[in-house]
Amino acid sequence: MSIYRISVTVKSMPQNMNSIKRNVPSAWYPTMDSFIAKGKNAEIWDKNNKRYLDFVGGYAVLNTGHLNPRVVKKVKNQLNDYSHSCFAFAPHENAVELCEQINKRYPIKEKTKTFLVNSGAEAVENAIKIAKYATGREKIIAFKGGFHGRTYLAMGLTGKEKPYKEGFGPFPKFISHIDFPYEYRNISDEKVLNQLENLLAKKINPKNVAAIVVEIQLGEGGYIPASESFLAKLRTITNKHKILLIFDEVQTGFGRTGEMFGASKVKVEPDMVTLAKGIGGGFPLAAVVGKAQIMDSVHDAGIGSTFGASPISCAAALGVLDVFDNDNLLDKVKKQETIMTKSLESMKNSFEFVGDVRGYGIMKGVEIVEDKKSKVPSKELASKIINNSKKNGLLLVNCGKEGNVIRFMGPLTTPLKQVKEAMEMFNGALEKI
Ligand SMILES: Cc1ncc(COP(=O)(O)O)c(C=O)c1O
Repeated sequence: MSIYRISVTVKSMPQNMNSIKRNVPSAWYPTMDSFIAKGKNAEIWDKNNKRYLDFVGGYAVLNTGHLNPRVVKKVKNQLNDYSHSCFAFAPHENAVELCEQINKRYPIKEKTKTFLVNSGAEAVENAIKIAKYATGREKIIAFKGGFHGRTYLAMGLTGKEKPYKEGFGPFPKFISHIDFPYEYRNISDEKVLNQLENLLAKKINPKNVAAIVVEIQLGEGGYIPASESFLAKLRTITNKHKILLIFDEVQTGFGRTGEMFGASKVKVEPDMVTLAKGIGGGFPLAAVVGKAQIMDSVHDAGIGSTFGASPISCAAALGVLDVFDNDNLLDKVKKQETIMTKSLESMKNSFEFVGDVRGYGIMKGVEIVEDKKSKVPSKELASKIINNSKKNGLLLVNCGKEGNVIRFMGPLTTPLKQVKEAMEMFNGALEKI
């Protein structure tokens, strides 16, 4: 008998993928039941040569698509010279150019500085470290439903218990969670702002709060956008108490909202921001950007990372910026958004189990319910729709506290013809329910 706890749900694995079962932990079993063989922009082919439209996009990473030629060109050039140097020891120009570009582009008016790391969670960890150091304050406020990564502090900040936190506690005591506004489920902006004011008046002294961390649109938490006015009020409250406002733009960054950064979309300026996913065009890279005074506060070598600012990932990121600058990417997003909004809204009108369609830009979430009146979340139906979509050749995944929201995370470079094709495939999947 095992002395270890065993998870009750062990996912099954198709025969042809038994090598996965033999070699990787069951909690890490993939969702797809075939191996990926090839990717090109918004399309992938599996080992059985079945073609899919990839609206998972490596979980909102492939904003510029699979193997974007501009990204590939930069990476190939870099591979002629060297592949790694730990930036803190031997600097390289790709990293500095990228930091300069991000500092120029991120919509914080004051001078900013950028620190490069490898993943969203690492960026979040570092943002909190820097915020605590700069303010000399201890407490952090985050949101229920928020997702910030899987390392301990990021997990502590994450406000979705299952599957991310269950069994892994305890978590740092200096973190408090408040609700995230959710119009469809009657959690109003006002209600949440009152919660925050109460927390700061009665439970924690605002003078001890270093930062509030918020996603402009919940990702894992259900593709729920925060309104401009909610974020503006959060800005007013944080200014009043000299609390730093940190946007976690790991998912909203790099064009998905229709603007290069979500902060421009909602017209609210944070003090710091975390970026990852789309930044590296498919190569691992992440960033913490913040007002220079804050970023410079930390003592020498207090932050760092062996692989952070990989020359290859930085080259890829410069390729991503080339795509933005030369291929009218934001125009493409606007056109995609028009098609998606029109199609998904029409599906909402046609199907009783489509409760809500929402999200900034092309970050569209479709909330599946038993029926419009009861609004009872239906993960079961959502899973069926995702399976039907896959049979039709469209890859999608779910999100949300109840797992009943289907989200679209396709490349910004998806040809409009394929966006329409995806909408038809999705409509077909709903019709089969
Ligand atoms: C908003 C947000 N923050 C942080 C993370 C963690 O990023 P990573 O998986 O690269 O550590 C994610 C990942 O999905 C995310 O969506």
